[in-house]
Amino acid sequence: MNYRDEFPILSTRIGKRSLVYLDNAATTQKPRCVLEAARRYYEEQNSNIHRGAHYLSRLATEKHEEARETVASFLNAASSREVIFTSGCTAGINLVAQTLALSGLIGAGDEIVVTTDSHHSNIVPWQMLCERVGAVLRPVPLTPELRFDMEAFHRILSPATKLVSVPYISNALGAINPVAQIIADARRNNPATLVLVDGAQSTGHQLVDVQALGCDFYAFSGHKVYAPTGTGALWGRESVLEQLPPWLGGGEMISEVSFEKTTYNTLPFKYEAGTPNIGGNIVLAEALRFVQQVGVEKIDAHEQALTGRMFDGLKALGVHILGTREKRGALISVTVPGVHHYDLGTLLDQMGIAVRTGHHCCQPFMQSLGITGTTRYSFALYNTEEDVDAALAATERALDMLR
Ligand SMILES: Cc1ncc(COP(=O)(O)O)c(C=O)c1O
Repeated sequence: MNYRDEFPILSTRIGKRSLVYLDNAATTQKPRCVLEAARRYYEEQNSNIHRGAHYLSRLATEKHEEARETVASFLNAASSREVIFTSGCTAGINLVAQTLALSGLIGAGDEIVVTTDSHHSNIVPWQMLCERVGAVLRPVPLTPELRFDMEAFHRILSPATKLVSVPYISNALGAINPVAQIIADARRNNPATLVLVDGAQSTGHQLVDVQALGCDFYAFSGHKVYAPTGTGALWGRESVLEQLPPWLGGGEMISEVSFEKTTYNTLPFKYEAGTPNIGGNIVLAEALRFVQQVGVEKIDAHEQALTGRMFDGLKALGVHILGTREKRGALISVTVPGVHHYDLGTLLDQMGIAVRTGHHCCQPFMQSLGITGTTRYSFALYNTEEDVDAALAATERALDMLR
């Protein structure tokens, strides 16, 4: 698989070296078809959508609602009414937390279960909800091998469990959580428990079928799946979304407004107050079509091969790798005794290798390990074996200088 040429930014030179971009878990680069779709939108389609009496407004509306269909089919949603466009994964999770706070479905003493390796986006919105309604946040610990601790999860589940929210793939560790089993067990404990899957690191890497998973919500960011920043979607099960109240008020989310009483629009519009990111959402659909054309299963196999090669190479260098060699997300986090992650990242940058260092917005996870951060190598469909080998050679050189 070689898609490097489809991504103009990958020809960037860092000094005399070509860029090796391994910061894909933070954000992915954009292929020509996505750049072209953005240009096309603003040159040929730009207009505000819905209720416009003119040609461009009808065209933009049609493209925007087609984009919603594309997202629905990408996630195998039962209906595009279940797809709410958001500015990203964080916005999707906050939408669920805020509407739940308003709904009265979660109250004092109820429990919300998350994983220890969650991104702050899957912790802080729930903490804010807990503070507001008096609910309690219950993190599930990891096993000593840094896997989701199913037994601990079973001990935490109780009649008070109202919501379980888990990352499909953790962004700092790379573990693929057993989401299907987590959802099934949460339901067995209490059929009314809601389950949200944080799909920030799985979308575009793993085949996602929200109906087969059986969750209630799935949130993802467009920019991590080859689309622009400020795009994304929240999928919600229609029967659940129907029970929840709107959150942001304004244009488009209403049916009738009077000073006495306002009634709300139907799904999904009741959650899309104001002018949406019309161009961004249309371009997001182009990115998802690109991923579908390449094939998610092919991307997964390619990334697994790269991640395996990187894992073995890093192990040979004697660094400490978080987690095991088994199938994982397209990323590897490492620590090196006596070497600060920032120093390693800085030296790698000087050799043209872009990685991310720090806590990766997972401070509670870092605290559980007693570390302040890691160096993270993360992959996308355009990375190659040469990228892996260049990153390994650069890591070896950097460690020779630092150790
Ligand atoms: C697992 C996970 N969840 C949530 C997020 C938040 O995504 P965004 O900042 O695009 O909203 C990220 C971003 O890195 C992530 O990796």
